[in-house]
Amino acid sequence: MAYEKILVTGGAGYIGSHAVVELYQAGYQPVIVDNFSNSEESALQGIESIIGTSVPVYRVDCADESALRGVFAAEPNIAGVIHFAAFKAVGESVQKPLAYFKNNVGSLLALLAVMPEFGVENLVFSSSCTVYGIPDALPVTEATPTKPASSPYGRTKQMCEDIMHDVSAAPDNKLRTILLRYFNPIGAHDSAKIGELPLGVPNNLVPFITQTAAGIREKLTINGNDYDTPDGTNIRDYIHVVDLAKSHVVAVQRLLDHKATETVETFNVGTGHGNSVLEVVQTFERVTGQKLNYSIGPRRPGDVPAIYADATKAEQVLGFKTETSLADSLASAWKWQQALADKK
Ligand code: UD1
Repeated sequence: MAYEKILVTGGAGYIGSHAVVELYQAGYQPVIVDNFSNSEESALQGIESIIGTSVPVYRVDCADESALRGVFAAEPNIAGVIHFAAFKAVGESVQKPLAYFKNNVGSLLALLAVMPEFGVENLVFSSSCTVYGIPDALPVTEATPTKPASSPYGRTKQMCEDIMHDVSAAPDNKLRTILLRYFNPIGAHDSAKIGELPLGVPNNLVPFITQTAAGIREKLTINGNDYDTPDGTNIRDYIHVVDLAKSHVVAVQRLLDHKATETVETFNVGTGHGNSVLEVVQTFERVTGQKLNYSIGPRRPGDVPAIYADATKAEQVLGFKTETSLADSLASAWKWQQALADKK
C-alpha cells in the first residue's frame, strides 16, 4: 500500500535527495532528517521543484538520540526508515577516525534505540562495496567474504552491518533490515535540479571530471595506470544515482509487504559491469564533446584495483535492474555541473 510515511535520514544529501524524489513519485510520504553537515538547503528547493510540493524537514543530527526521539514523536505512524546519514570521505576518515565512528555508528545506534520505542520495524541501510575490501574473485556476490576495511570509513560500514545482524538475532527482535551495498553512484537527476554538491575539492572521480571540464580544476590526475587491469587503471561499477535511488523504493516496499525472508537481507546495488577510469574519461569526452585535461599520477593509497557487482540477487529477489548507461549517467553529471554554473 502506498502513501506510507518513510523517514529518510540524510534526505538532503546526494543519494538521499534522489531517493526522496523517487519515494514521493512512487506514492510514499518521505520525511527528511538532516543536519546539513554535508548538504545544502538548495537540495530541498530542488526536490520541491521536481515533485511540486514540499517535504517535511527536521534539522536534526541523527546521532542525537533525544532529538531523534523528538522527530519520531512529531511524526506518528512512520512505516519505515531509510538511513543514509553518514560521513563518506575515505581520506578524511583516516584524519578524523573518531568523528566517523561517532557519526556513522552513533547515528545507527540512536536509530536502533528509538525505532522500537515507536514500533517502527523496517530499516533500509546504506552500506558500501567497501566491505568487500580487495576481493579474491570478480564479480563480487553478497556471499563474497568481507575483508578487513582499508579505512575507518569502511570499518564504520562493516561495524554497522555487524550491529544490525546482532540486534536482529536478539530473541525479542522485531527489526527487519535490508542492507544495500552501493557500488559507485554517479550522475544527477535528469531535471538537473538535484545532484552531487561536493564541498571543496572533490575526492570522487566524476565530480572531479565535471569540475575539470568546467574549468574549476586545472586537470584530473588519474591515480595510477600500472594496475593489473586491461588498461592499467582501476575498475569500478558506476551506477546512476536515480537507479540507485529506485533500489531503495523496492527495498522498502519489500519490507512493508513482509516479503523479506531473513531478518537481515543484503543486496549488491550495482550495474554488474566494471569500467576503468580511462574508460570513464573517454566516455565523458565522447558524450559531452569536452576535451578533458588529464595526466597519470601515482596510485592512491587504499585503492582497490578492481571491483564490480554481481547484480543477480537484486534482480531475482527485488526485481531491480539498472536502466541508465555509463554514457547517459556521465551526460547527466555534466548537465548538472552546467546547471550549477548557471546558478552562480
Ligand atoms: C570510495 C569508497 C567507497 C565510498 C566512496 C564514497 C573504497 C574502496 N571505496 O569509492 O566505499 O562509498 O568512495 O566516497 O573505500 N580517481 C582518479 N582521480 C581522481 C579521483 C578518483 O583517478 O581525482 C579514481 C580512483 O583512484 C578510483 C576511481 O577513480 O580508481 C573511483 O574513485 P572514487 O570516485 O573516489 O570512488 P572509490 O574510491 O571507488
